[in-house]
Amino acid sequence: MTEEVIKIKDLKGYYRGSFGIVHAVDGVSLSVNKGDIVGIAGESGCGKTSLAELITGRPIKLLHHEGGQVIVNDLSMYELDAEIIRKEILCKVMGYVPQASQNSLNPVKRIKNFILDAMMERIGTKTKNKEKVLNQVAKHFKKLGLEKSVLDKYPHELSGGMKQRVVVGISTLWNPLILIVDEPTSALDVTTQQLLIETLINLKKIGIVETILFISHDLPTLVQICNICIIMYAGRIVEKAGMDDIISNPQHPYTKMLIHSIACFNPDGSAETSLEGIPGRPPDLKNPPKGCRFYPRCSSRLEKCKENYPPFFIPKTDSNPVACWLYEEVGD
Ligand SMILES: Nc1ncnc2c1ncn2[C@@H]1O[C@H](COP(=O)(O)OP(=O)(O)OP(=O)(O)O)[C@@H](O)[C@H]1O
Ligand SMILES: [Mg+2]
Repeated sequence: MTEEVIKIKDLKGYYRGSFGIVHAVDGVSLSVNKGDIVGIAGESGCGKTSLAELITGRPIKLLHHEGGQVIVNDLSMYELDAEIIRKEILCKVMGYVPQASQNSLNPVKRIKNFILDAMMERIGTKTKNKEKVLNQVAKHFKKLGLEKSVLDKYPHELSGGMKQRVVVGISTLWNPLILIVDEPTSALDVTTQQLLIETLINLKKIGIVETILFISHDLPTLVQICNICIIMYAGRIVEKAGMDDIISNPQHPYTKMLIHSIACFNPDGSAETSLEGIPGRPPDLKNPPKGCRFYPRCSSRLEKCKENYPPFFIPKTDSNPVACWLYEEVGD
Protein backbone atom coordinates (compact mmCIF):
# COMPACT_ATOMS: atom_id res chain seq x y z
CA MET A 1 0.00 0.00 0.00
CA THR A 2 1.33 3.46 -0.84
CA GLU A 3 1.97 5.73 2.09
CA GLU A 4 1.94 9.45 1.47
CA VAL A 5 4.86 11.22 3.15
CA ILE A 6 4.18 14.74 2.00
CA LYS A 7 1.22 16.42 0.40
CA ILE A 8 1.37 19.87 -1.15
CA LYS A 9 -1.86 21.63 -2.03
CA ASP A 10 -2.06 24.70 -4.25
CA LEU A 11 1.16 26.15 -2.83
CA LYS A 12 1.91 29.75 -3.78
CA GLY A 13 4.79 32.03 -2.90
CA TYR A 14 6.18 35.34 -4.09
CA TYR A 15 9.23 37.56 -3.61
CA ARG A 16 8.60 41.16 -2.75
CA GLY A 17 11.23 43.86 -2.95
CA SER A 18 12.16 47.07 -4.70
CA PHE A 19 12.02 45.01 -7.90
CA GLY A 20 8.28 44.45 -7.43
CA ILE A 21 6.50 41.14 -6.84
CA VAL A 22 7.71 37.92 -8.43
CA HIS A 23 5.19 35.06 -8.39
CA ALA A 24 7.80 32.33 -8.15
CA VAL A 25 5.51 29.45 -7.16
CA ASP A 26 2.00 29.74 -8.42
CA GLY A 27 -0.33 26.94 -7.38
CA VAL A 28 1.75 23.78 -7.05
CA SER A 29 0.07 20.58 -5.89
CA LEU A 30 1.79 17.25 -5.54
CA SER A 31 2.21 14.34 -3.21
CA VAL A 32 5.20 12.15 -2.57
CA ASN A 33 4.88 8.55 -1.48
CA LYS A 34 7.18 6.71 0.89
CA GLY A 35 10.09 5.14 -0.95
CA ASP A 36 9.90 7.42 -3.98
CA ILE A 37 12.77 9.47 -5.27
CA VAL A 38 11.04 12.32 -6.99
CA GLY A 39 12.94 14.59 -9.35
CA ILE A 40 11.89 18.17 -9.98
CA ALA A 41 13.22 19.51 -13.25
CA GLY A 42 12.82 22.68 -15.26
CA GLU A 43 14.82 25.56 -16.65
CA SER A 44 16.65 28.02 -14.45
CA GLY A 45 14.21 30.42 -12.79
CA CYS A 46 11.14 28.15 -13.06
CA GLY A 47 10.75 28.14 -9.27
CA LYS A 48 12.39 24.89 -8.11
CA THR A 49 14.34 26.45 -5.25
CA SER A 50 11.43 28.65 -4.25
CA LEU A 51 9.21 25.56 -4.13
CA ALA A 52 11.74 23.73 -1.93
CA GLU A 53 11.96 26.74 0.39
CA LEU A 54 8.18 26.94 0.69
CA ILE A 55 7.98 23.20 1.41
CA THR A 56 10.21 23.69 4.47
CA GLY A 57 7.58 25.96 6.01
CA ARG A 58 10.27 28.53 6.76
CA PRO A 59 11.11 30.11 3.41
CA ILE A 60 14.07 32.44 3.05
CA LYS A 61 13.68 36.17 3.63
CA LEU A 62 11.88 37.95 0.80
CA LEU A 63 10.01 34.79 -0.19
CA HIS A 64 6.50 34.92 1.22
CA HIS A 65 3.97 32.15 1.58
CA GLU A 66 0.93 33.38 -0.29
CA GLY A 67 -1.33 30.38 0.10
CA GLY A 68 -1.71 26.63 0.00
CA GLN A 69 -0.66 23.87 2.33
CA VAL A 70 2.25 21.55 2.97
CA ILE A 71 1.24 18.51 4.99
CA VAL A 72 4.02 16.33 6.37
CA ASN A 73 3.43 13.50 8.77
CA ASP A 74 -0.16 14.74 9.17
CA LEU A 75 1.12 18.16 10.25
CA SER A 76 0.24 21.24 8.28
CA MET A 77 3.47 23.25 8.10
CA TYR A 78 1.87 26.66 7.79
CA GLU A 79 -0.24 26.07 10.88
CA LEU A 80 2.79 25.25 13.02
CA ASP A 81 4.77 27.59 15.16
CA ALA A 82 8.14 28.56 13.61
CA GLU A 83 9.90 27.22 16.72
CA ILE A 84 8.22 23.80 16.35
CA ILE A 85 9.23 23.69 12.69
CA ARG A 86 12.83 24.49 13.58
CA LYS A 87 13.10 22.04 16.48
CA GLU A 88 10.75 19.23 15.56
CA ILE A 89 10.29 19.19 11.80
CA LEU A 90 13.47 20.32 10.10
CA CYS A 91 16.06 17.56 10.27
CA LYS A 92 13.91 15.14 12.26
CA VAL A 93 11.04 14.89 9.78
CA MET A 94 12.38 16.81 6.81
CA GLY A 95 16.05 17.05 5.92
CA TYR A 96 16.90 19.92 3.62
CA VAL A 97 20.05 20.48 1.62
CA PRO A 98 19.59 23.93 0.09
CA GLN A 99 21.10 24.98 -3.23
CA ALA A 100 24.83 25.80 -2.86
CA SER A 101 24.67 24.66 0.76
CA GLN A 102 28.28 23.45 0.73
CA ASN A 103 29.04 27.15 1.14
CA SER A 104 26.89 27.30 4.26
CA LEU A 105 29.53 25.56 6.40
CA ASN A 106 31.18 28.12 8.64
CA PRO A 107 34.70 28.75 7.26
CA VAL A 108 36.17 29.47 10.69
CA LYS A 109 34.70 26.45 12.46
CA ARG A 110 35.82 22.85 12.40
CA ILE A 111 33.08 20.59 11.05
CA LYS A 112 32.52 19.05 14.49
CA ASN A 113 31.95 22.43 16.13
CA PHE A 114 29.67 23.47 13.33
CA ILE A 115 27.63 20.30 13.91
CA LEU A 116 27.49 20.75 17.69
CA ASP A 117 26.31 24.33 17.21
CA ALA A 118 23.75 23.25 14.63
CA MET A 119 22.46 20.61 17.04
CA MET A 120 22.17 23.17 19.79
CA GLU A 121 20.24 25.41 17.43
CA ARG A 122 17.88 22.59 16.53
CA ILE A 123 17.38 21.07 19.96
CA GLY A 124 17.76 24.28 21.89
CA THR A 125 19.91 22.82 24.64
CA LYS A 126 23.65 22.43 24.97
CA THR A 127 24.92 18.96 24.10
CA LYS A 128 26.05 17.46 27.41
CA ASN A 129 28.26 14.65 26.20
CA LYS A 130 30.03 16.06 23.16
CA GLU A 131 32.29 13.03 22.68
CA LYS A 132 29.35 10.63 22.64
CA VAL A 133 27.44 12.80 20.19
CA LEU A 134 30.46 13.17 17.91
CA ASN A 135 31.02 9.40 17.95
CA GLN A 136 27.45 8.93 16.78
CA VAL A 137 27.97 11.57 14.10
CA ALA A 138 31.17 9.78 13.03
CA LYS A 139 29.26 6.49 12.73
CA HIS A 140 26.64 8.22 10.62
CA PHE A 141 29.28 9.90 8.45
CA LYS A 142 30.96 6.54 7.87
CA LYS A 143 27.77 5.33 6.21
CA LEU A 144 28.17 8.23 3.81
CA GLY A 145 31.76 7.30 3.10
CA LEU A 146 33.23 10.04 5.28
CA GLU A 147 36.06 9.28 7.67
CA LYS A 148 35.92 10.44 11.30
CA SER A 149 38.90 12.74 10.65
CA VAL A 150 36.59 14.93 8.52
CA LEU A 151 35.05 16.19 11.75
CA ASP A 152 38.33 17.85 12.74
CA LYS A 153 38.71 19.67 9.46
CA TYR A 154 37.82 23.18 8.44
CA PRO A 155 35.63 23.51 5.31
CA HIS A 156 38.54 24.81 3.21
CA GLU A 157 40.39 21.56 3.87
CA LEU A 158 37.63 19.55 2.16
CA SER A 159 36.89 19.09 -1.52
CA GLY A 160 33.57 20.34 -2.92
CA GLY A 161 32.21 16.79 -3.05
CA MET A 162 33.18 16.10 0.57
CA LYS A 163 31.61 19.36 1.73
CA GLN A 164 28.43 18.40 -0.06
CA ARG A 165 28.43 14.96 1.59
CA VAL A 166 29.04 16.61 4.97
CA VAL A 167 25.96 18.78 4.42
CA VAL A 168 23.94 15.71 3.37
CA GLY A 169 25.28 13.94 6.46
CA ILE A 170 24.19 16.76 8.77
CA SER A 171 20.76 16.93 7.14
CA THR A 172 20.18 13.22 7.65
CA LEU A 173 21.49 12.85 11.22
CA TRP A 174 17.98 12.25 12.52
CA ASN A 175 16.93 9.84 9.73
CA PRO A 176 14.28 12.21 8.37
CA LEU A 177 11.14 10.91 6.69
CA ILE A 178 11.99 12.92 3.61
CA LEU A 179 15.15 14.53 2.32
CA ILE A 180 14.98 17.53 0.00
CA VAL A 181 18.14 18.18 -1.98
CA ASP A 182 18.39 21.21 -4.24
CA GLU A 183 20.94 21.01 -7.07
CA PRO A 184 23.34 18.97 -4.91
CA THR A 185 25.51 18.02 -7.85
CA SER A 186 25.62 21.20 -9.94
CA ALA A 187 28.88 22.57 -8.54
CA LEU A 188 30.67 19.21 -8.78
CA ASP A 189 32.70 17.56 -11.52
CA VAL A 190 31.24 14.48 -13.19
CA THR A 191 33.10 11.91 -11.05
CA THR A 192 32.20 13.66 -7.80
CA GLN A 193 28.61 14.06 -8.97
CA GLN A 194 28.49 10.30 -9.43
CA LEU A 195 29.84 9.73 -5.94
CA LEU A 196 27.20 11.97 -4.42
CA ILE A 197 24.43 10.21 -6.33
CA GLU A 198 25.75 6.87 -5.09
CA THR A 199 25.79 8.27 -1.54
CA LEU A 200 22.13 9.26 -1.83
CA ILE A 201 21.17 5.88 -3.30
CA ASN A 202 23.05 4.22 -0.47
CA LEU A 203 21.23 6.36 2.14
CA LYS A 204 18.01 4.89 0.81
CA LYS A 205 19.39 1.36 0.60
CA ILE A 206 20.48 1.32 4.23
CA GLY A 207 17.26 2.93 5.39
CA ILE A 208 18.56 6.30 6.60
CA VAL A 209 16.21 8.12 4.25
CA GLU A 210 13.51 6.37 2.29
CA THR A 211 12.02 9.27 0.40
CA ILE A 212 13.89 11.97 -1.50
CA LEU A 213 12.88 15.09 -3.39
CA PHE A 214 15.75 15.75 -5.76
CA ILE A 215 15.80 19.11 -7.49
CA SER A 216 17.95 19.64 -10.55
CA HIS A 217 17.80 21.51 -13.82
CA ASP A 218 19.77 18.59 -15.24
CA LEU A 219 17.49 15.78 -16.42
CA PRO A 220 20.31 13.29 -17.06
CA THR A 221 21.24 13.57 -13.37
CA LEU A 222 17.65 12.94 -12.32
CA VAL A 223 17.39 9.92 -14.61
CA GLN A 224 20.13 8.23 -12.63
CA ILE A 225 18.38 8.38 -9.29
CA CYS A 226 14.66 9.21 -9.57
CA ASN A 227 11.70 6.94 -10.23
CA ILE A 228 9.22 9.83 -10.56
CA CYS A 229 9.73 13.11 -12.37
CA ILE A 230 7.96 16.43 -12.10
CA ILE A 231 8.45 19.06 -14.76
CA MET A 232 8.06 22.70 -13.72
CA TYR A 233 7.60 25.65 -15.99
CA ALA A 234 7.27 29.28 -14.90
CA GLY A 235 6.17 28.59 -11.33
CA ARG A 236 3.83 25.69 -12.08
CA ILE A 237 3.94 21.95 -12.63
CA VAL A 238 3.17 20.99 -16.23
CA GLU A 239 3.70 17.24 -16.08
CA LYS A 240 4.23 14.48 -13.55
CA ALA A 241 5.10 10.93 -14.57
CA GLY A 242 7.32 7.96 -13.95
CA MET A 243 10.90 8.80 -14.90
CA ASP A 244 10.89 6.23 -17.73
CA ASP A 245 7.71 7.73 -19.18
CA ILE A 246 9.12 11.24 -19.04
CA ILE A 247 12.12 10.13 -21.07
CA SER A 248 10.47 7.73 -23.50
CA ASN A 249 6.96 9.13 -23.77
CA PRO A 250 6.84 12.81 -22.77
CA GLN A 251 3.43 14.42 -23.21
CA HIS A 252 3.66 18.13 -22.54
CA PRO A 253 5.18 20.11 -25.44
CA TYR A 254 7.63 21.68 -22.97
CA THR A 255 8.73 18.28 -21.64
CA LYS A 256 9.16 17.09 -25.23
CA MET A 257 11.40 20.04 -26.04
CA LEU A 258 13.34 19.55 -22.82
CA ILE A 259 13.99 15.91 -23.70
CA HIS A 260 14.86 16.71 -27.30
CA SER A 261 17.30 19.37 -26.18
CA ILE A 262 19.43 16.53 -24.82
CA ALA A 263 21.16 14.59 -27.59
CA CYS A 264 20.64 11.07 -26.28
CA PHE A 265 20.53 9.07 -23.12
CA ASN A 266 23.09 6.33 -22.66
CA PRO A 267 22.02 2.99 -21.16
CA ASP A 268 23.45 4.03 -17.77
CA GLY A 269 21.17 7.07 -17.77
CA SER A 270 23.90 9.58 -18.54
CA ALA A 271 23.44 11.79 -21.55
CA GLU A 272 25.45 13.29 -24.32
CA THR A 273 25.89 17.04 -24.22
CA SER A 274 22.95 19.27 -24.95
CA LEU A 275 22.18 19.70 -28.64
CA GLU A 276 20.49 23.04 -28.38
CA GLY A 277 18.49 25.04 -25.91
CA ILE A 278 14.77 25.65 -26.18
CA PRO A 279 14.20 28.74 -28.31
CA GLY A 280 12.63 31.75 -26.59
CA ARG A 281 12.48 32.64 -22.93
CA PRO A 282 10.11 31.82 -20.07
CA PRO A 283 7.66 34.59 -19.14
CA ASP A 284 8.45 37.28 -16.60
CA LEU A 285 7.06 36.03 -13.29
CA LYS A 286 6.42 39.61 -12.19
CA ASN A 287 3.58 39.68 -14.64
CA PRO A 288 2.77 36.12 -15.73
CA PRO A 289 0.42 35.74 -18.71
CA LYS A 290 -3.19 34.68 -18.22
CA GLY A 291 -3.07 31.68 -20.52
CA CYS A 292 -0.60 28.82 -20.83
CA ARG A 293 2.80 30.11 -19.80
CA PHE A 294 4.52 28.08 -22.48
CA TYR A 295 2.28 29.48 -25.24
CA PRO A 296 4.82 31.81 -26.92
CA ARG A 297 7.41 29.01 -27.24
CA CYS A 298 5.05 26.14 -28.03
CA SER A 299 5.01 24.70 -31.54
CA SER A 300 1.71 22.84 -30.88
CA ARG A 301 -0.21 25.80 -29.42
CA LEU A 302 -3.93 26.25 -29.96
CA GLU A 303 -5.83 29.51 -30.04
CA LYS A 304 -7.39 28.91 -26.61
CA CYS A 305 -3.98 28.41 -24.96
CA LYS A 306 -3.32 32.15 -25.20
CA GLU A 307 -6.11 33.19 -22.86
CA ASN A 308 -6.79 30.15 -20.68
CA TYR A 309 -4.42 28.32 -18.38
CA PRO A 310 -4.96 24.57 -18.90
CA PRO A 311 -6.04 22.33 -16.02
CA PHE A 312 -4.49 18.86 -15.77
CA PHE A 313 -5.76 16.36 -18.33
CA ILE A 314 -5.08 12.64 -18.42
CA PRO A 315 -4.15 11.54 -21.94
CA LYS A 316 -6.01 8.33 -22.90
CA THR A 317 -2.91 6.32 -23.53
CA ASP A 318 -1.36 7.31 -20.28
CA SER A 319 -2.38 7.86 -16.70
CA ASN A 320 -0.09 10.78 -16.03
CA PRO A 321 -1.50 14.27 -15.61
CA VAL A 322 -0.46 16.92 -18.12
CA ALA A 323 -1.38 20.61 -17.97
CA CYS A 324 -1.98 21.09 -21.67
CA TRP A 325 -5.09 21.83 -23.76
CA LEU A 326 -3.93 19.36 -26.42
CA TYR A 327 -5.22 16.58 -24.19
CA GLU A 328 -8.62 18.12 -23.49
CA GLU A 329 -10.42 15.89 -25.98
CA VAL A 330 -8.72 12.65 -25.09
CA GLY A 331 -9.79 12.70 -21.48
CA ASP A 332 -9.99 14.72 -18.29
N1 LIG B 1 15.79 36.59 -3.79
C1 LIG B 1 15.01 36.78 -4.84
N2 LIG B 1 14.43 37.97 -5.08
C2 LIG B 1 13.62 38.16 -6.13
N3 LIG B 1 13.31 37.24 -7.04
C3 LIG B 1 13.87 36.03 -6.87
C4 LIG B 1 14.74 35.73 -5.77
N4 LIG B 1 15.14 34.44 -5.89
C5 LIG B 1 14.54 33.96 -7.00
N5 LIG B 1 13.78 34.92 -7.59
C6 LIG B 1 12.96 34.77 -8.79
O1 LIG B 1 12.00 33.76 -8.55
C7 LIG B 1 11.83 32.95 -9.69
C8 LIG B 1 12.13 31.51 -9.32
O2 LIG B 1 13.48 31.41 -8.94
P1 LIG B 1 14.12 30.08 -8.33
O3 LIG B 1 15.45 30.42 -7.79
O4 LIG B 1 13.13 29.46 -7.43
O5 LIG B 1 14.27 29.19 -9.66
P2 LIG B 1 15.08 27.84 -9.89
O6 LIG B 1 14.20 26.98 -10.75
O7 LIG B 1 15.52 27.30 -8.60
O8 LIG B 1 16.34 28.30 -10.75
P3 LIG B 1 17.82 27.66 -10.81
O9 LIG B 1 17.72 26.44 -11.69
O10 LIG B 1 18.63 28.74 -11.47
O11 LIG B 1 18.28 27.36 -9.43
C9 LIG B 1 12.76 33.51 -10.77
O12 LIG B 1 12.00 34.38 -11.59
C10 LIG B 1 13.78 34.29 -9.97
O13 LIG B 1 14.30 35.36 -10.72
MG1 LIG C 1 17.38 26.83 -7.82
